[in-house]
Amino acid sequence: CGIIGYVGREEAAPILLNGLRRLEYRGYDSAGVAVYHPEDGLTVVKTKGRIQNLADQVEARGGIRGTLGLGHTRWATHGEPSDVNSHPHLSENGRIAVVHNGIIENYAEIKEFLQSRGVHFVSQTDTEVVAQLLEFYYDGNILDAVTKVLHRIRGAYALGVLCADCPDRLIAARKDSPLILGYGDGFHFMASDVTAVIQYTRDVCYLDDGEIAEITADNVWVYDAYLRPVEKQLHRVDWEISAAEKGGYEHFMLKEIMEQPKAFHDTVSPRIREGKVVLDELTFTPEYLRNLEKIYVIACGSSYHVGMAAKYTLEKLLRKPVEVTLASEFRYCDPIVTERTLALVISQSGETIDTLAAMREAKRLGARVLSIVNVVGSTIARESDDVLYTWAGPEIAVATTKAYSTQLALIYLIGLSFAETLGTITPQAYDAIVDELRRIPEKLTEILNHRERIQYLASIYFNHPSVFFIGRNVDYAVGLEGSLKLKEISYLHSEAYAAGELKHGTISLIEPGTLVVALASYAPLFEKTMSNVVEVKSRGADVLGLTTADLEADMASVVNHTLTVPQTHPMLLPSLDVVPMQLFAYYVALMHGCDIDKPRNLAKSVTVE
Ligand code: G6P
Repeated sequence: CGIIGYVGREEAAPILLNGLRRLEYRGYDSAGVAVYHPEDGLTVVKTKGRIQNLADQVEARGGIRGTLGLGHTRWATHGEPSDVNSHPHLSENGRIAVVHNGIIENYAEIKEFLQSRGVHFVSQTDTEVVAQLLEFYYDGNILDAVTKVLHRIRGAYALGVLCADCPDRLIAARKDSPLILGYGDGFHFMASDVTAVIQYTRDVCYLDDGEIAEITADNVWVYDAYLRPVEKQLHRVDWEISAAEKGGYEHFMLKEIMEQPKAFHDTVSPRIREGKVVLDELTFTPEYLRNLEKIYVIACGSSYHVGMAAKYTLEKLLRKPVEVTLASEFRYCDPIVTERTLALVISQSGETIDTLAAMREAKRLGARVLSIVNVVGSTIARESDDVLYTWAGPEIAVATTKAYSTQLALIYLIGLSFAETLGTITPQAYDAIVDELRRIPEKLTEILNHRERIQYLASIYFNHPSVFFIGRNVDYAVGLEGSLKLKEISYLHSEAYAAGELKHGTISLIEPGTLVVALASYAPLFEKTMSNVVEVKSRGADVLGLTTADLEADMASVVNHTLTVPQTHPMLLPSLDVVPMQLFAYYVALMHGCDIDKPRNLAKSVTVE
């Protein structure tokens, strides 16, 4: 979910709606605003569906007057998406409005308590419990009431509170869900992230867990959980608003796919100096690396797929065991972690709650945490022992592309840097990979320049109801991502398999007309994969093959169509291979008329468990 609050001298509703549009990628099941005006009191407009729906409703009622308010865009957890379950939620007497991102774990128990006191609930949400509990504790001081509520609720939250009795201020509070404050001349914001406020201010501060803020048009006070004042440091956001706009592309996803050569370059080139990988940000000693027993890669979704590619790369380079775990599993699997374990945490948003919780668990067990994060100042970045930022700029499309590519780029840099320290790579091999790394952006551009071919192939295959991605080694890792991209945005059923595993069960699903996307770019295993291709071909599958230019002829004689990427060092192949997979998913989804940037049921940043 995304939340925003504004207090200032301008009309709040248009500013809130603008902010919500920029937060929409965080969830888009429903949306709402609450605005206060001295004559009209507290007005709430909320509705199921997209922000545009909400904007239409606000317009239909001739706007909402008032210079302070809260807004929310929702990714449903408790309670189906509906008008009544949308935020903001009001207390029973309509005096207190609340927006919330996260989950209140003990809401049922509090609800029961309040109901036994005669409080009447209108929604199924956990958030309404907060509004009602605030009312219950409110005795003229809203800040006190918020503090009492925070001591009573358990779970994860970013909260925005507006009380009609003190209509010059908003209260914000956070625990485990992101919240920033935006500072301006005569106005202040609270928001789930910087994109919501960048149009109005670049000066922000990041609230920490347990902090509460009180904001008016002219002042900001931040407190800890016991209302002791906290000094906050202001940060200046250094990217332009245009970075969060489509810039002529039909979709953010295509724009972000096209940005990959630059993003890769921006992530890698400042970190290669005189032919050497230099990771100034890191503080690892050679002794630490030598003593390292194991690397746990912890992540979710596409970031987890980067981890799958990382396993092949890092094990090869470092000769240390690498285990890749889904963050949601890591947390509860009693992992074997010692102080000789490195937790490599990968997250675009830096806020995914599963990843954050797993990272905290790894830390608690004694691991050192190195994170790869895109959003500067995010919680995961701040809580890591070391962080490497993927300088990819804001990524708006829900389906990640440039963040994936830049995460992968950092994996190579980490691998090279550690391998050099450990002496597990020869200088020749090191130089060869560094050389090739520098050439990846131009090779990416070459792939992107030929995207019509991918569009053409998508037009041939878009109606296949079931798609299997197969590959070995790094090709398998990319297949996982290709398959995820396709199902995320086109809703086609697809699966990714290690090519050699298909015959152990899944091949029973292959029938005439099934599409198999065969990734066979990793030359050492080309022939092995091709024999798996023959197996599916002989069972009637249509096969779209992906390989490097030099192997195309060998592949073309077996498959229906081929896609190629330029040759590169085998270790770096995923960086090239993933781009045709992204474009294929994009064009297939386009042909199905799907809502590419905001696929159904998804959200970009999932801050609930
Ligand atoms: C969400 C997104 C995925 C993303 C995953 C991890 O589920 O829909 O696209 O890969 O979160 O996100 P992170 O920000 O931690 O990389």
